[in-house]
Amino acid sequence: MERLRRRGAPLAALCAAGIAALASCEVGQAPPRRQVSDGDPDLGRAALARYGCGGCHLIPGVDRAAGRVAPPLDGFSQRAFVAGILSNTPQNLIEWIRHPREISPRTAMPNLGVTEEDARDMAAYLYSLDPR
Ligand code: HEC
Repeated sequence: MERLRRRGAPLAALCAAGIAALASCEVGQAPPRRQVSDGDPDLGRAALARYGCGGCHLIPGVDRAAGRVAPPLDGFSQRAFVAGILSNTPQNLIEWIRHPREISPRTAMPNLGVTEEDARDMAAYLYSLDPR
């Protein structure tokens, strides 16, 4: 009896190619490092609380951020995508936080009028979180 060998490699290669293709859509963007060099994580934590992101999201370390409406944001630097549609780069995360409805018109996440600077700080905080 010969055992069939399962082959996971082709699928993994396809996924990697897909992610690379998405990442290459970024114009003039460095490869994803999943850090925000000029964002301040402490200010980001305060901004996440101030804008009320935690009404919908679970965000470890942020006051009253235990929402279950939307995906939890722990371990965000290890995610491949933002909202399932953008590759997870600092610029894409900042764009999503500022303009979710422009990016995905049918998303339940509202535009909250987040400034560029606040979004940058929030992204820095989110990228500092370990997975639960
Ligand atoms: C009214 C509820 C609501 C509020 C308030 C809200 N979000 Fe969201 N958010 C969502 C939903 C729903 C999704 C999933 C979107 C999708 O997949 O289309 C989401 C997705 C996200 C994602 C991507 C999550 C993932 O798993 O890829 C991030 C990051 C995010 N929100 C950050 C924020 C930040 C930062 C704030 C505050 C400025 C905020 N959200 C406020 C509902 C909300």
